[in-house]
Amino acid sequence: PRIAILISGRGSNMLALIQAAEQAFFPAEIGLVLSNTPHAEGLAIAKAHHIPTHVEDHTLYKKNRQSHEEAIHAVLKQANIELVCLAGYMRMLSDYLVTQWEGKMLNIHPSLLPTFPGLNTHKRALEAGVKIHGCSVHLVTEIMDDGPILGQAAVPVLPDDTEKSLALRVLEQEHKLYPRVIKHFIERASAHPKGEFLLNG
Ligand code: GRF
Repeated sequence: PRIAILISGRGSNMLALIQAAEQAFFPAEIGLVLSNTPHAEGLAIAKAHHIPTHVEDHTLYKKNRQSHEEAIHAVLKQANIELVCLAGYMRMLSDYLVTQWEGKMLNIHPSLLPTFPGLNTHKRALEAGVKIHGCSVHLVTEIMDDGPILGQAAVPVLPDDTEKSLALRVLEQEHKLYPRVIKHFIERASAHPKGEFLLNG
């Protein structure tokens, strides 16, 4: 299937997926990288890997979240995208896009969900004093950083960790986890006779 990756910034998870898709083991191709801002550093990285990119600038849509998402949806359809992977996409999604891509939209989040949904996960993990932290890949539902968990990776929190050192340790795992989970997700889906992505199939 053709995957679109939605980004807003650095794009290191995007790069991990692009590099996975360049390997023979990966059962999908990256058909599009889409950003909600022209300032996402990841756009240049995608271009360097010859991946088509698109910017759908949310600031042009004033406060109309749905019309921004309708534009995104049209671009995804036009590019024959079958699976959407959020990778550091920092816009909240409304029910519109989530419903269109129900069961076919994944997100990576830098915590062991259901703990620490939302922002500043590493800071909050340090403040809470947890000894194990990590990252999660989950299906996207209407509730932010919720939805069925497809895979997780754990790391230790070390005594002299800073937000930065902990974030780096987790990020390294994110880059391994996301391609692996997507691969399993697609393989399980294609085992189904209709070739559809199933939530519990
Ligand atoms: C990652 O930590 C991801 O889990 C979170 O935002 C960060 C994006 O980093 N959703 P990058 O743009 O993939 O480098």
